[in-house]
Amino acid sequence: MKFFADTADTADIAELAATGLLDGVTTNPSLIAKSGRDFMEVTKEICGLVSGPVSAEVVALDHAGMMREADILRKIADNVCIKVPMTIDGLKTCKALTSDGTMVNVTLCFSANQALLAAKAGATFVSPFVGRHDDNGFDGMALIADIRLIYDNYAYPTEILVASVRHGIHVLEAAKIGADVMTAPPAVIRGLVKHVLTDKGIEGFLADWAKTGQKI
Ligand code: E4P
Repeated sequence: MKFFADTADTADIAELAATGLLDGVTTNPSLIAKSGRDFMEVTKEICGLVSGPVSAEVVALDHAGMMREADILRKIADNVCIKVPMTIDGLKTCKALTSDGTMVNVTLCFSANQALLAAKAGATFVSPFVGRHDDNGFDGMALIADIRLIYDNYAYPTEILVASVRHGIHVLEAAKIGADVMTAPPAVIRGLVKHVLTDKGIEGFLADWAKTGQKI
């Protein structure tokens, strides 16, 4: 399963990239606003920190506007993945860009039928938002399972990018279902390594080691 960091914070991205566990990055207009940085400048910096896909989202709502923005964004670096919304114009843009060899992430997916459309449009990634789905009384993981089933039925190559991940259980369930990618805030990714028994175990081993008086 690929791990993407859901952030535009370059310090966080650099730290996670140094672990060798980071496969890509996703941003959105809210995350860019939170960074307080210039969109083009911060996206270029992120693209230099990871070799995998970096999602940069268009803000135009019409096909021509999306194509114009995508053309600017895809010139930033070879690993830019254009993020388009789940609308007819977004899907049309997805089809045009992927036919041209550009990676596309279709975002704001909340139903399996929407994911089916993204696959038909040739999307590189589809982003179902599990956290926001759960927040609104739906079952985010049931959505992931439905999309996995549909994509496997037809051998669609579109990768399921589980987004709006809030905690480790989302990561675990997505992995069990066989999602291709998950994107999570850096704190959630760092939290995956934590376990009280691991900490306790290290403490016990070090205490016993100290008693031996030895050094490595
Ligand atoms: C990523 O591509 C999405 O934009 C992001 O995961 C949304 O997460 P949120 O629901 O926590 O804003």
